[in-house]
Amino acid sequence: MECYFIINYINYNLNIKTIIKIFKKMGFILSKIFGDLFSNQEVRLLILGLDNAGKTTLLYQMQFGEVKVTVPTLGFNVESVKYENINFQMWDLGGQSEIRPYWRCYYPKTNAVIFVIDSSDKERLDIAKQELFLLLQEDDLKGVPIAILANKQDVEGCLSDAQISENMALTDIKNRQWAIFKTIAKTGKGLDDAFKWLTGILKNNQS
Ligand code: GTP
Ligand code: MG
Repeated sequence: MECYFIINYINYNLNIKTIIKIFKKMGFILSKIFGDLFSNQEVRLLILGLDNAGKTTLLYQMQFGEVKVTVPTLGFNVESVKYENINFQMWDLGGQSEIRPYWRCYYPKTNAVIFVIDSSDKERLDIAKQELFLLLQEDDLKGVPIAILANKQDVEGCLSDAQISENMALTDIKNRQWAIFKTIAKTGKGLDDAFKWLTGILKNNQS
């Protein structure tokens, strides 16, 4: 009965072109609501930072929601992680000084960077700063947004995000979107904020 009424309504009140238009519009609205700008593509995310900063811990925390025991990364680890409908292809590169020159091999086609800092490693903050500003000059990372993590916030006497920001002169970063987050990769604290910010930036840039 209901179907009969709808068919009749369509027959008498709408011509076929209008019906097609409505269907198209519905499809557009539905794809806006349920679809995802990155549904068919992966976001390439590099996780960089000095050795022992907590990069691999972050990777496993994001993938498994728990920490595995990590060993120093001699090459790289790569995992796919879905966050807020975005498929992140996360590249965790080893941070030892001998490996750092090879980071640049991974820069092409990168969509986002996470730079992890051990907030308790005050002695090497200058080296972290040097490495950060080096990668910010790379053509292959031009304009790529960067989330800087002040990690290991659970360690007593560690530097705060404000202290790290000041000591590393982060406000000198003018050529891209950036933000600093306090994190404890070991427990996952703060990672959500960083990924929320990143996904927001990526979605904005895409639309
Ligand atoms: P490389 O692979 O050598 O570049 O180091 P990485 O940056 O991958 O460091 P990794 O994740 O292996 O962590 C190094 C050590 O720091 C491990 O013992 C972790 O358990 C520890 N760690 C990582 N994140 C935290 C944190 O938020 N708090 C504390 N207290 N320890 C952490
Ligand atoms: Mg590692």
